[in-house]
Amino acid sequence: MRITRDILHKMHAEGRKIAALTCYDATFAALLENMGVDILLVGDSLGNVLQGHPSTLPVTLDDMIYHTECVVRGSDKAFIMTDMPFGTYQISPEETFMNAARLMAAGAQMVKIEGGHIMTDTIDFLTRRGIPVCAHIGLLPQSVHQLGGYKVQGRTANEAEQLFNDALLLQEAGVGMLLMETIPAALASKISRELSIPTIGIGAGADCSGQVLVMHDMLGISPGKQPRFVKDFMAGARSIQEAISHYVDEVKAGKYPAAEHTF
Ligand code: KIV
Ligand code: NA
Repeated sequence: MRITRDILHKMHAEGRKIAALTCYDATFAALLENMGVDILLVGDSLGNVLQGHPSTLPVTLDDMIYHTECVVRGSDKAFIMTDMPFGTYQISPEETFMNAARLMAAGAQMVKIEGGHIMTDTIDFLTRRGIPVCAHIGLLPQSVHQLGGYKVQGRTANEAEQLFNDALLLQEAGVGMLLMETIPAALASKISRELSIPTIGIGAGADCSGQVLVMHDMLGISPGKQPRFVKDFMAGARSIQEAISHYVDEVKAGKYPAAEHTF
């Protein structure tokens, strides 16, 4: 039986950490869930990782459907969350529902949308009509050109207050989960304590309900300089399975991320 949203909420309520990783194919889907990964995120990071683009902007809905189907075929235990790609959820709640429905038909159990209060009408529309949503706040890779680069968000008091208020409004709008990317650990901790839904962090400190990383980054095979929050779990591991297992163990024990990985 697959992990459900209710099981994730129960894990959160009981203080059991949630381990998530990106996944784009059937082989890794099976491997990751067998090593104890709870959530497989079919991330639009596949634009960078698989397609070789400099950003996630060119990724299409058809790409996300294809990779969701691959991951679903390869797994039967993990919770499947799929990113809505750039341009498929910004126009109207109705159009977003139509696109999200195709991802759900492909086997996603939840769709992820980048943005704060600006997305609450759309999130309300989807969640009232049967589509669970995870909101993604902080560093929004699809807004890289608006943000002026991949930088830490929420560093000023104003930005931090905006993110905190966004988190409250998103929960009120019905999100089933909140993902926070590259924000100060203290802010992510405050938001996690305030919300009743699970929070998943990437570069957001150890106090979130769970953690996510791009799998290729944590296996140490992504080219170029890695962000501060990435840890190479292949270092000292004898196999990919062992590296994944160490990641799951460290997330579950609250040992990853350590201070050196946080802002
Ligand atoms: O696309 C992705 O992999 C993501 C994670 C980095 C959170 O959205
Ligand atoms: Na993404």
